[in-house]
Amino acid sequence: MRNLTLLLVFALAVTLIGACDSSPNNDTDPDPAPPDSTGQQNPDPTTLRGWADSAGVNIGTAVADNPLRTEDQYAEVLTREFNQVTPENVMKWNTIHPSRDSYNFGPGDTLVDTAEANDMDVHGHTLVWHSQNPSWLEDNSWSEDTLKTIMEDHIRTVVNHYGDRVQEWDVVNEAIGDGGSRRPTIWQNTIGDEYIAEAFRIADDANPDATLYYNDYGITGLNNKSDGVYDLVRNLVEQEVPIDAVGLQAHLSTDGGAPSLEELSENIQRFNELGLEVGITELDVAIPIGDGEPTDEQLQTQADIYERMLTACMEADDCSNFTMWGFTDRHSWIPNFSDGEDGAALIFDESYDYKPAYNALIRVLN
Ligand code: G3I
Repeated sequence: MRNLTLLLVFALAVTLIGACDSSPNNDTDPDPAPPDSTGQQNPDPTTLRGWADSAGVNIGTAVADNPLRTEDQYAEVLTREFNQVTPENVMKWNTIHPSRDSYNFGPGDTLVDTAEANDMDVHGHTLVWHSQNPSWLEDNSWSEDTLKTIMEDHIRTVVNHYGDRVQEWDVVNEAIGDGGSRRPTIWQNTIGDEYIAEAFRIADDANPDATLYYNDYGITGLNNKSDGVYDLVRNLVEQEVPIDAVGLQAHLSTDGGAPSLEELSENIQRFNELGLEVGITELDVAIPIGDGEPTDEQLQTQADIYERMLTACMEADDCSNFTMWGFTDRHSWIPNFSDGEDGAALIFDESYDYKPAYNALIRVLN
């Protein structure tokens, strides 16, 4: 009789455990959450966002406009898993400032409304860049003074429009070339070196509370380009230009080139020592898959890189923003950009199932 009772209790326990497990993908479920410092459970112990909130970390993602408006599951996973967003395209000049005298805030407003309704921060991207500019801006021979006026009007109008609804701005994006010196752009060629300091001063005047970033790619490791960016921002700090942070974009690959933990940490540290915050602003880890699927080994390599990037950020003195350049392989810029050679760069697959990289991030936050 005692044996029969034990058997029944055991069978009941197994049934209950099975019934409680309603996650989308059992194989890759994150671990259960521990209590937070007040003894309470996390807000939602099964999500990246829940863990990030408990750890006091901003976990963000770039958001694409079309799926946000048309795909319920996209918005659902976005608001469930992240506490910060960056517009992938809709705050760039070619969308937001289509002619000299008109602004198009609609798509940016949609994202900011979503963020506000779901208690998420917004990282604005991007105020001054050489790419995705409208032809009215690029195809003209502006005088230095006129271009300065255009830049100032743009920064003031956009930053004022969003006010405190956008907490961070990429003020200048990708101004340094691969060799470490200034990239020849419409801004550099027409206004000269001073345009960067000027852009920060205008943005700060428009919103003194926002965190103002210089943002660039290819600078997660120690190399000519990150040295060039270091020299640039050190110079800005020395001139008391109101710059707050450096964004390391981090478009990485499983095929090599990702920095070691030590190298990344050393790099973050040198920016922190200038008194600047660091953000990982555009992380994705492309896999060379062609038309195929990633192998388990590639997914593990990818997870290791995600884990390393978040570890370095969390161990740093001041790394307050960890943002991925999208979250589902269903919507990522990588396949287009690589002509289909690379893909599967994000932490959810095309069906919104968790990938090993997702669990790696949970492990670090844990
Ligand atoms: O919206 C048009 C659509 O109407 C048209 O039918 C289609 C045809 O090609 O193009 C669509 O525009 C594309 C746009 O993304 C929106 O999907 C552009 O062609 C395409 O060039 C653009 O690519 C964006 C790229 O920046 C442009 O440089 C990517 O989505 C975006 O992820 C990428 O983001 C950049 C960051 O801003 C800065 N750091 C690097 C990062 C990756 O390149």
